[in-house]
Amino acid sequence: MIDGTRVCAIIPAAGSGTRMGRGDARSKTLIPLRAVPVILRTLGRFEESAAVDDVVVTLREADIGSVRDLIAGAGFRKVREVIPGGAERQDSVRLGFASKTAAAAGIIVVHDAVRPLVTAGLIERVIRAAHREGAAVAAVRPKDTVKIELSGALETPDRGRCWLAQTPQAFRRDLFAEGLERAGKEGFHGTDDVSLVERLGRVVSIVEGSYNNVKITTPGDLAIAELLLGRENADHGQS
Ligand code: CTP
Ligand code: MG
Repeated sequence: MIDGTRVCAIIPAAGSGTRMGRGDARSKTLIPLRAVPVILRTLGRFEESAAVDDVVVTLREADIGSVRDLIAGAGFRKVREVIPGGAERQDSVRLGFASKTAAAAGIIVVHDAVRPLVTAGLIERVIRAAHREGAAVAAVRPKDTVKIELSGALETPDRGRCWLAQTPQAFRRDLFAEGLERAGKEGFHGTDDVSLVERLGRVVSIVEGSYNNVKITTPGDLAIAELLLGRENADHGQS
């Protein structure tokens, strides 16, 4: 709850992990990270967050049974629905949004299942900004110079105006409903969630994210996430 408003997290976890290069052998979200599957690490962060009331997870059909068992085994109490996702990330988020659980919330926060290093602090800051402004996104400044390729020619945007969008991304529910509806009508498929609200001409608030909030996309990212988790644990006196 944030100021009496119910908060629902949607965790899209229905991707096929193509860039991880494992074929269909094992879903990316089930890969163990320091002995705990990625999806459980991510869900654990939402369990910890006092701002989040309910969680909906969207998965590939083949993973639903095993993830339900993992969630029960972990004793998580906020996960209300574990349901099938869709062909594209946006479809998976849309299906999560269509759930009963999301319909009962005033604020929706979307977070990639494959960002297990998100902190309860960042989750809460993004939710609070969305509660205030309507929509919010965690983002960091690019460290490299950004190039945009336009039919062969390069352009170099001012790095000081560039952001790299992460998740969490959060919304007042009605505003996200409007963004999803417009995107559906116009056949727009975004690679993130707030882009649907940007297209409505509405302001999206940026919340400083963290370089540690890595997205596990390629095998190298797994190694980085393990190192970062190890450092977090050392900071908290765990092994
Ligand atoms: N996702 C999803 N449904 C899809 C595609 C992606 O729920 N149809 C989820 C992924 O499971 C992941 C998040 O969206 O938690 C971010 O997606 P990404 O990192 O691109 O994962 P994949 O799509 O699985 O990987 P790839 O693009 O390499 O296939
Ligand atoms: Mg993908």
